[in-house]
This record gives sequence, structure tokens and C-alpha cells, in this order.
Amino acid sequence: MTRKRTAILISGRGSNMSALIAAASDAGYPAEIALVGSNRPEAAGLQRAAEAGIPTAIVDHTIYGKDRTAFERALHDVLLQHRIQIICLAGFMRLLSPWFIAQWPNRILNIHPALLPSFKGLDTHRRAIEAGASEHGATVHFVVAEMDSGPVVAQGRVPLFPDDTETALAARVLAVEHRIYPLALKLVASDRVRVDDGRCIVCGAVSAEEATLLPRHPAH
Ligand code: GRF
Repeated sequence: MTRKRTAILISGRGSNMSALIAAASDAGYPAEIALVGSNRPEAAGLQRAAEAGIPTAIVDHTIYGKDRTAFERALHDVLLQHRIQIICLAGFMRLLSPWFIAQWPNRILNIHPALLPSFKGLDTHRRAIEAGASEHGATVHFVVAEMDSGPVVAQGRVPLFPDDTETALAARVLAVEHRIYPLALKLVASDRVRVDDGRCIVCGAVSAEEATLLPRHPAH
């Protein structure tokens, strides 16, 4: 099995990045983390990636001013130089243009801290509490031109309690993020996710626990 060369793009602390690195440290995992890239030189995750022996790259968007195309071309070039096959956005706080996304069709994953299609955008935990939702969670999806949309690969649910604080809820959701992202990358990197009419179909056997994190898996 050739492991898929995967880049993780971050802008901040990188806890999802660490979860992916930990999963990929198993030689049997179908993706290898070949690069961690950041648009922010001060992103805390960069140091942790370097400590794990992973090449890092900084493409600082501020250098390009308002020229998003130039920033994205520079990022794209770095990814090509590292022969990247799959991109995982993990707290990467730049919107990607339709041009960039078209270079990587069904090859960019993102994690969003809500049960999409609910609560797209920012401040998801506060908004879920304010909406009186009874459950919340996180979603890994393929990136398409429309923000926080695209075929859902994996989704993890947590309960939302009446007296929840944003901090407590965020921690509960983050724990589920760290489970679903390694699972989603595993399935995509082993070519077991097919996108059909905007939906993900997962092929092959998954454990009963994994099946609870996959929409529309036959084991449901
Ligand atoms: C996570 O909540 C993720 O869902 C969102 O940004 C946050 C990144 O956290 N997209 P971390 O940098 O992975 O710790």
C-alpha cells in the first residue's frame, strides 16, 4: 500500500493536526503527513509539527496584501513541491477560492465544529447554545466553493445540556473532532469514499463504532 502524501493546513493551535499526526504514526494508516503548512508564522501547531519531524511551510497571506490569487498560487506551488495528494484543513482560517478548490477536486477535507448543514460559519458553540439545540457536534466534509458545504464524510454528535457553557461544549465537541478527522482521512486515503450526486458513499467494512460516525453507511 502506498500511503497518500497528506498536507495539513493550520492557522492556530493545531489540536486536530496533532490527532492526525498521531493516527498517521501507525505504519498501517493509509496517509502519511508529509507537510504542515500555515498562513500564520506564529501558529502554535507549527512547532509541534516540527517536533514530530514533519516538514513545515509558512505561506504568510499578509505578504500578498489583498492579492488572494498570488497567495493561493504560492500555497499551491508549495503543495506541489511536496507532492501532496490530499489536503486537510484543520483550523485554517482563510477562505479558498473556486480556482484553488478546482485544483484539488474531492481532495480537500475540512473539519467544522457543528453538525452541518446547521451552524455554518463562526461562533458555532455560542449559536448552538443560544438556539436551544439539544445536540451539537462536528463534521468532516469535502471542500467545495461554498463555505462549510460539500459532501459530508464523517459526523460526530454530542449532547448539549441546558446549563452548558461555551467552554464546556467546545471541549466536548473537540474530543469528537479528534475521533472523526482521523477516521475520515483514513477512509479517503484508502480510496473508500466515493462522491455520488453530492453525497459520500463509504465502501468496505467499518467497525460498529465507526459506523455511528458515518452518514448513510449501510451498517446503519
Ligand atoms: C476546530 O474547532 C475546528 O473544527 C475548526 O477550528 C478549530 C481548530 O482547532 N475548524 P485546532 O487548531 O485543531 O485545535
